[in-house]
Amino acid sequence: MGKVAISLAIGPLHKWGYQHVCQECMASQAEFADHIYVVQSTEDSTGVEEFLSKYSNVTFISNPSTWHHRPGETDEILTTSKKMTGFHMHNLIKGRLAAFRDGYKIVLSTHNNWYIPRRGIGPLHDYIDKFQATSALTGRMWRFVQLNDTLFGPGARGDFLCNLAGMDEAGIQAYYPRLKWERALGRNVPDNINDVHIVDCMFELYPEEFGAMQERFPDYHTPKGAWDWPKYLEYRVSRFKRFAKIESIPLDYWGQRIADKSQPGFASHYILRELGLSKTIGIDVVIRRAIDCNSMLYNRKRKCPEAKRAIQLRFLYELAGQAPDGTAVECGVYHGGSFVCWSGTRLGRGPLIAVDNWADKNRDAFMANLKRYPDLRGTTILEMETCEAPAAIEGQVAFCFIDAGHYETGIARDILVWPNKIMPGGILAFHDYSSKGGVVGRCVDEWQKRDKWESLGAVGTIIAFRKPR
Ligand SMILES: C[S@@+](CC[C@H](N)C(=O)[O-])C[C@H]1O[C@@H](n2cnc3c(N)ncnc32)[C@H](O)[C@@H]1O
Repeated sequence: MGKVAISLAIGPLHKWGYQHVCQECMASQAEFADHIYVVQSTEDSTGVEEFLSKYSNVTFISNPSTWHHRPGETDEILTTSKKMTGFHMHNLIKGRLAAFRDGYKIVLSTHNNWYIPRRGIGPLHDYIDKFQATSALTGRMWRFVQLNDTLFGPGARGDFLCNLAGMDEAGIQAYYPRLKWERALGRNVPDNINDVHIVDCMFELYPEEFGAMQERFPDYHTPKGAWDWPKYLEYRVSRFKRFAKIESIPLDYWGQRIADKSQPGFASHYILRELGLSKTIGIDVVIRRAIDCNSMLYNRKRKCPEAKRAIQLRFLYELAGQAPDGTAVECGVYHGGSFVCWSGTRLGRGPLIAVDNWADKNRDAFMANLKRYPDLRGTTILEMETCEAPAAIEGQVAFCFIDAGHYETGIARDILVWPNKIMPGGILAFHDYSSKGGVVGRCVDEWQKRDKWESLGAVGTIIAFRKPR
């Protein structure tokens, strides 16, 4: 197998929308290439150490000749996209020349938000070998241009969609297929490139970060309104509808890491939603899951009519679906029965958090159940008192279901801290509520006398409220 090097030009890794998943993307490239030449366009090295410490096959090039500013000046001095592109190209050449000097004949140029899924690595190597063996072209730069254009040309224009969030059980990835490459290149792509997957994660950023780029580079205009998010969204969605091929494949290690980091507010999230690809697992599937996980909310009593056994689980699923995007929590998960049910409507919509102290030693059963469902792999588990969890969770919560301690030591403490943790428009639900008494009923009623929220009704012993906006 021929040796391959990568020249990778980077700016400040923690800024301008590239910070979110670039560590994972660069790691996937470091695993693919024999060596990577990382050339940096700024003095600010934040985030670079993290990458360098993990990989020994990296040469880091950063000095005043690769920076777009003078030593001691900040990044912000760069205000035109022409200069930005100029530096990028200039640095890619520096990286390539360093690789050629070290004896690499095949050098690819990439970007720090390109992810090479593992299953793409073998075919990519095969393709490069074949290219090298059959190419009649001479001259390394010419060969570089041919190879790089064939592999990455369209990718460089950001035509791959990879939001790995909100996927089905195996994980869906949307790839830009051969079709596009053929169109872009105006000729057929060799057969053995079918399987090469390179994913541009440029949509794993917030729409405001597109906006920030517009402010940063006011000279940068495209006919498609690249930084005007609503226009851009419309444009992207129409392109994906026309060209994208949707495949369902298992996520590899880096893909899963990217999926875990994906946020509901990311650009890709909106694109997937518009394409109808945001994933919800159907109610019947999740009720089956709840039964299999021994949910206490499923009525197993002999006298209960069949049609009524799952009414509480259905209500919970509806509530979780109605709540805004953002973090969703269950306090008191036990074996995970109710958690695996309502979470079916929250995939790709924000972090999922399970809280329990498992004082009765049911933790192993919960962990084993969670493992059965790959779509819940990103779940955060907080083994602690439910009333202490709000302090351990970053930001506000969109949905919370409390089914933990039903006495003074449990619900009475929970109700002091959880309402404040819910975001405006967010939903808080309780199990074991009764208007006729009991600690849960009393605590909830007293809270609602003080703090009026919109009632979303009660089913079985679940009662739910929406926080005023
Ligand atoms: C009724 S079970 C939950 C049933 C689950 N929601 C279901 O549908 O299968 C209550 C759970 O709350 C947990 N729990 C009780 N008090 C708690 C507390 N103060 N802090 C954390 N977890 C608690 C218990 O360990 C138990 O697993």
